[in-house]
Amino acid sequence: MVRRGGPAPLAARDSVLSLLPSLASRSALAARVPRLLPLALLGGAAAFLAFRRMRRAAAAAAFWQTLSRGKLLEGVCPPALADALVREMQRCLDAAELPLSQTHLLRRRHARAACAELQAAGGGEGRGGRAAALRKVAVAASPNFKDVLRARVLASPHFGALQLLCQRLVHHHLLPFLRDGLGEDSFAVQCQPSMRFNLPGCSALGARPGDSDEMIGLHADGEYGHQPGEMNFTLALTPFFGSNGLFVETEPGRGDFREVVMDTGGIFAFAGVSRRHHNKRNTTGVSRVSLDFRVIPMSKYQDSRDGERKASREHRFTLGEYFELVVVGRNNTTVTTGRGLIFRTDEVGSPQRKLQN
Ligand SMILES: [Fe+2]
Repeated sequence: MVRRGGPAPLAARDSVLSLLPSLASRSALAARVPRLLPLALLGGAAAFLAFRRMRRAAAAAAFWQTLSRGKLLEGVCPPALADALVREMQRCLDAAELPLSQTHLLRRRHARAACAELQAAGGGEGRGGRAAALRKVAVAASPNFKDVLRARVLASPHFGALQLLCQRLVHHHLLPFLRDGLGEDSFAVQCQPSMRFNLPGCSALGARPGDSDEMIGLHADGEYGHQPGEMNFTLALTPFFGSNGLFVETEPGRGDFREVVMDTGGIFAFAGVSRRHHNKRNTTGVSRVSLDFRVIPMSKYQDSRDGERKASREHRFTLGEYFELVVVGRNNTTVTTGRGLIFRTDEVGSPQRKLQN
C-alpha cells in the first residue's frame, strides 16, 4: 500500500539536493570559469557574426528582389550630371540646339541631305551613289531611322566625352548605391551603354511579326542569352510617359505590365533578363531618348557561358567582351579592367583615363 504525504516530500527534497553540486565541486567549477570564459565569448561572437551575416544576406536579397520587380531610383543620378549627359548626347547627334524630346525632327534634316545627295548623284541608272541616297531618303521615314541616330552618336567626336559621363554616373553613383544595398563591391558592368531612341510613330524595340501597336517587341533578355544575374538600369534623357515609354512586368510570366513614368535624370531598375518588357507605338508626338546599363554583382556572375552567343549579334555576355569588371573602393573610388580601357578615379574624384596596352 502506497502511503500519501509524510516522508515522500522529504525524500524528494533529498534527491533534489543530491543533484546540486557540492561545495567542493562548486569551487572546482569556479576554478574552471576563467578557462571557459574565452570559449564562451568566442562562441557568442561567432553566433553574433553568423546572425549578422544572415541578416545582411536577407537584406541584400530583399534589396535585389525590390529592384528586380522594377523600381524608380530617386536621386541616384545628380541633376547636374543628367544635364551634362543630355548636352553631350545633343552634341553627339550634332544638334546642340534641338531638345532631345524633338530628336525626330532630325529625320527632316537627314532626308534633306539625302535628297541633295540624290540630286548630286544625277539620274543615271544603277549608280551606287544614287541607290545609296535613295536608301537614305527611305530610312528617314522608317523605324530604322533610330539606327542612323545610333550610328551618328557612335561616330561622333563627342562620343568619348559621353562615355566618360556615363562612367561617372555608373562608377560614382550607381555602383556605390548597389554596394550599399548588397554589401559587395565588385561588379560586371556593361562596357558600352545601349542607346534607345523611341521616335513618334515608331518604337525603340524592333517589331516582331504579329505585334500590335499596343505591344511591340515583347521579350525577356534571357531569350538572347543574357546572364540570369543581370540587372537593367534605364536612364531617362527625356521624360518617359505614355506610349513613348517602357512597359515591364513585375514577376516572370505574370503579364502585369506597368508603364514606366519618369523625368529626365530618372533611373528605372528592373531584371529584364527574366521580366518581359515591351514598347508601344509612340503616339505622344515626343521622342524618348534613354541609355541602358546592365550590371551583375560578381557574386551572381557566371563565367561558364563562354560558348553562348547572342542570337543576332556576336556578343558574349562575359567579362572582357560585353562586361568589364569594376571594383568600388572606399570614398567611391573605382578600378576597372575592361575592353581596352583602364578607368581610375583618384581620391578627390577627378577622372583619369588612359589606354590599356
Ligand atoms: Fe530587353
